[in-house]
Amino acid sequence: MKVIQDIDELRQELAAYDSIGFVPTMGFLHEGHGSLLERARRENEIVVLSIFVNPTQFGPNEDLERYPRDEQRDQQLARAAGVDYVFYPTNETMYPLDMARVMVRTGDDVLCGASRPGHFDGVLTVVSKLLNIVRPTRAYFGLKDAQQLALIEGYVADYFVPVEIKRCPIIREADGLAKSSRNVYLSEQERSQAPRLQQALQQANALLEAGTAVEEVVERTKDALHLEGTALDYVEAVDYPTLGPVTAETKTILLAVAVQFESARLIDNLLYTRG
Ligand code: PAJ
Repeated sequence: MKVIQDIDELRQELAAYDSIGFVPTMGFLHEGHGSLLERARRENEIVVLSIFVNPTQFGPNEDLERYPRDEQRDQQLARAAGVDYVFYPTNETMYPLDMARVMVRTGDDVLCGASRPGHFDGVLTVVSKLLNIVRPTRAYFGLKDAQQLALIEGYVADYFVPVEIKRCPIIREADGLAKSSRNVYLSEQERSQAPRLQQALQQANALLEAGTAVEEVVERTKDALHLEGTALDYVEAVDYPTLGPVTAETKTILLAVAVQFESARLIDNLLYTRG
């Protein structure tokens, strides 16, 4: 496994391969990232992992400075997952002029986009840069961040980017909490409350299966998520992957939740396909 910081060097190395699987991350790797890497390993000649805590997707009062980092541990995990190249750029490498950014047109007025203005512009900007640097055959993203994934698919379609985007399922702890680099922020007491997100979504899934109206399911899910010491950021249902309103024509519903704990904001979601 090679760790590379320089774009030209990485491109020279990658030129020799026919199929490249790419997994972009912000590091502090866990089994969620691991599952993306494993799938990339199975489906491609080589696997490229990028680790870059992208400043443009963090708001002014968010956790950019304290975002967890552990370079040594990440490299061990990457090696164990069979990664061939780790791209580990600096801010200067990724934003040489910062003269141009990618902008979301629709789909960031809901869910996380509504509470994190500019966040998804930052995500699409960095993903665009990374795809242009690595030029992968396939790139792997988790449904943990379902809105992010839909917006990336939209960007790739609108800009005719020659890459296959692969959707990967949410990996969870034994008690149902979706794995996240930010789970380390949780206090012991918060950690014990955190599986309630997944429980609320499971209840919602059962209600949808029983034919309950979407608005009612959203209300019942909100009721289930009034947790002591937390603020409910949102419970929302949208069409997937358009991220527009749920209509009679909607085939797949994304029901997504975000709960603000004292020092961590947790998200989780459910995709429900009708019929
Ligand atoms: P990060 O939060 O590090 O996540 C990297 C990838 O891992 C994303 O595609 C995310 O959806 C996926 N992932 C995280 N937790 C997961 C879980 N429990 N199960 C399955 N997949 C999971 O998402 C980002 O970084 C950044 O926004 C990035 C796309 C790298 C752009 O900066």
